[in-house]
Amino acid sequence: MRIDIITLFPELLKSPFEVSILKRALESGIAQVHFHDLRTYSTHKQKQVDDYPFGGGAGMVMMIEPIDRSLEALKKKRDYDAIIYLTPDGKTLNQKAANHYSTLNNIILLCGHYKGVDQRVRDHLITHEISIGDFVLSGGELAAAIFCDSVIRLVPGVLGDESSALTDSFQDNLLAPPIYTRPAKYKEWEVPEILTSGNTPKVEEWRDQKALERTQKLRPDLLE
Ligand code: ADE
Repeated sequence: MRIDIITLFPELLKSPFEVSILKRALESGIAQVHFHDLRTYSTHKQKQVDDYPFGGGAGMVMMIEPIDRSLEALKKKRDYDAIIYLTPDGKTLNQKAANHYSTLNNIILLCGHYKGVDQRVRDHLITHEISIGDFVLSGGELAAAIFCDSVIRLVPGVLGDESSALTDSFQDNLLAPPIYTRPAKYKEWEVPEILTSGNTPKVEEWRDQKALERTQKLRPDLLE
């Protein structure tokens, strides 16, 4: 899988890819992530990428030309399965969507800033619009990092234990069951006895039951 990220602030995006699972995914070559500074595609002397909105109003709008030029440069090199604009009014990202995107080969992420991009970018150049939740960030970079984390960890071979992504919360519309580790007793707080019994089928049954109870209590909407 290859993800190309077009951004005004590449430095904002680097650190999530420098530790833990994402770092290993990049080192192993299973995933590639490339950052592209939108300013380098500006034809203006001052490397301008935004301008005042037609019709007036507060805030600046990201111009179509540098975005189009950056997309053209990438599309010339390979075919892309999805060109995604991160925006608070996009479709909310969830586990089902992350599963889908993890099966694609080449993805472009476009990070917005200021008031957003010229509508013609959305109408003609983008294939998907994604939000990470009903709140507004200063820009799309952190949303892009969250998108990459949720998707790349699902690419086969990225997680050491192949089955562990399948037991994540939301994978089967259930929240994950509670988990514990040593010590079995800390202060007066004990681990449920079944977990230390060695009875694997009973443990599985207990986990299924707890996942269901937890979902009923915390996210009943997932069961509807
Ligand atoms: N850009 C600003 N806010 C965002 C959000 N909630 N999701 C995706 N991109 C964004």
